[in-house]
This record gives sequence, C-alpha cells and structure tokens, in this order.
Amino acid sequence: MNVQHTVSLRTTLNLPCVAQQLFTAHHTSELPALMAHLKHAPYRVLGGGSNVLCAVSCVDTVLQIAIKGIALRRTQVDAFFVQVGAGENWHSTVMHTVEQGWAGLENLALIPGWVGAAPVQNIGAYGVELCERIHSVQAWDTHLDAMVDIAAEDCGFAYRDSLFKRQSGRYLITHVTFKLPRPWTPVIAYAELAALFAGKTPTALDIAHAVIAIRQRKLPDPTHTPNAGSFFKNPLVSASQAAALKVKHLAMPVYPAGDEQCKLAAGWLIEQAGWKGYSRSVGSSDVDAGKVDAGKVGVHAAQALVLVHLGGAQGADLLQLASDIQADVLAKFGVKLVREVNVWV
Ligand code: EPU
Repeated sequence: MNVQHTVSLRTTLNLPCVAQQLFTAHHTSELPALMAHLKHAPYRVLGGGSNVLCAVSCVDTVLQIAIKGIALRRTQVDAFFVQVGAGENWHSTVMHTVEQGWAGLENLALIPGWVGAAPVQNIGAYGVELCERIHSVQAWDTHLDAMVDIAAEDCGFAYRDSLFKRQSGRYLITHVTFKLPRPWTPVIAYAELAALFAGKTPTALDIAHAVIAIRQRKLPDPTHTPNAGSFFKNPLVSASQAAALKVKHLAMPVYPAGDEQCKLAAGWLIEQAGWKGYSRSVGSSDVDAGKVDAGKVGVHAAQALVLVHLGGAQGADLLQLASDIQADVLAKFGVKLVREVNVWV
C-alpha cells in the first residue's frame, strides 16, 4: 500500500481536483489494516476516473484499489471462469481474454476505466451488458469488516445500476470473476454490427475490432478531448408517455423496456433540444480588468450524450452545463435526464 499527499487526481474529464491524501492498495491482504485506519474518516473511492466529475477543486481522502492480475480459475464444459483484479485496465482485459480464446467481453471493447468500476454501473454497449458475463464479485464489506464473495444474482444489477451503486461506500471491489460462455456465439444484433457482419461469421476479435472502430467514430478519445462517456442515462418513461411523445416526434427512438415502460435515447433528446456540438466559454469575462475567458465546456459534435471539457474549466462549469441541458430537455420534452456520471461535491 502507498500513501501520497496533496496529489492531483487523474480523471478522464481532466478537471482540476487535488486530494489531500490518496491511499493505493495493491493486495487484498492490505485491506484489514487500511480499512481499520480509515474507519472513521470519510473517503471516496476512485478507479480509473472515467466516470467521475469532480465539482470541487479539493477533496480530503481518496482510496484506489489497484489490485492486478488476470487468471483463468476454472474451466467447465459450458464456461471459462476468469478472475481479474479491480485495478486492471478494462480494455486491456477485454483484449487479453479475447486473445486467450475466452470470448464474451468483445462487445465491451474500448470502454475506458478499470475492472473494479465496471460492475458498479453495470457497463453495457453494443448489445452486451456486463451482468450477463459476471459470475461473482469479490469485495471488502465495510459493514462486516470482511471480504465477501457476491454471486451475480445477488448484485442487484439493472440498467447502469447495481447493489454497489445503490449502497455506495459499503463495498470495495477487489476482484471480478467473469463467466465466459462455451460455446461462444457472436452478439451482433446492434444495427451497425448487424450490417457489418451480415452473412458472415465473425470471430470475437473481429467484433472487438468493429466495436473499437464504431467507438472511435462516435465517441471522443478522452486523451484528446476529455470526457466521461455518456453523461446521462437513457431515460425510462412510461409506455403511455413514450406513445404521447412519439405522436409529436415521429422520428424519436423508443425501445420497449418491459413492465409498461420504454427507454428513450438521451442523445436524441439532447440533439433535438439543440445542444449537439454546442460549446461555451466559462470563467471570468471581465475584459476591463484584464481577465479573459478561462476555459471551455461543451457537447460532443458526433454524440450529444457526451459532455466534453475543452480545456481550462472547473468541475462546477461542466456541472452547470449538465444542469442547463437537464432543465431544457425537461422543458421541451417533459423528460427528466438522470446523470450517469458520478459527481463529487
Ligand atoms: N442519437 C441521436 N443523436 C445523438 C446520439 C444518439 O439522435 O447525438 C440517437 C441515435 O441515432 C440512436 C439512439 O440515439 O437512434 C441511440 O444512440 P447510440 O446507439 O449511439 O447509443 P446511446 O443510447 O446514445 C448507449 C450507451 C453507450 C453505448 C451505446 C452503444 C447509455 C447511457 N449509453 O448510448 O454507453 O456505448 O449505447 O451500445 O446507455 C457509456 O455508458 O459511457 C456509453 C458510451
């Protein structure tokens, strides 16, 4: 374990935020002593920083679980069980498993972040949700002060949601065990994959490469244009509200979501409200006093669901933009957008 003091936190939004102390755990064996030490101190948990908006410039204590390792634990006729440390990079894990012949995570290629954060928001893309590939999650339970092994069916997974998100702060994920299907079958129902592979039999690596290409086309690379992926969840509304909206907006995408509910496309709503490609200067504009605009935030031009930090802004500026978009979409469509990104205040 190591401790750093007054350290600038790295998040993919690249907004300025300093932690007074950053604890990094590399082994499960370090957790009992570390958690006893932090027992009465409030702390925040950071993974790869790809889903966090730090709206304040300084936070107190931050904890990172940087446990490494990818290991095939068990092989069954119908599955490979692969255990991965929370601190492994998500995309490298996807590519490594696919290259080893343990297919199943390929649709989730190129998602930024670390493995430990993936179950928290139950990441999903291009037809696969992570919960379909999880066997169990190993974590330190701060209520029991012990390691626990939680089976997938007890993780409370839902769309971009889980037990770990709902009981935020309780569990520190140390490992994720994946159950990867044998025999493997490609998941290519997502329109762009279906069109690309019509009449073909793609390998898992082919799908990974196709997903990488789609993401590179639509989503900004956080190393060039800082962002945190989809900023909002796709909203769930009642089937009757969706039907009423559809009458007014014929082209609006609507996906049935069971239980008399429908999912709408937040990106479509934000684009129709006129925000796609928008940017604003933030900070001081007191030209007489010799001050100039300090920074810029905006909405990605190829995917309206992604908010971007265009340099020099503070977390509060991006949060303000998000609130303005939420208020506008609510006023124009009567639909409440819920943030997907974690906001630190
Ligand atoms: N759309 C627009 N304008 C936009 C963006 C989207 O009209 O600017 C429309 C599209 O034309 C399409 C619909 O909205 O009809 C859905 O768009 P898309 O397939 O691009 O996906 P999404 O719903 O915007 C979700 C996930 C993404 C994931 C993709 C692909 C959420 C919050 N986001 O986005 O996940 O990659 O599907 O499966 O569910 C992330 O969570 O960070 C993320 C990128």
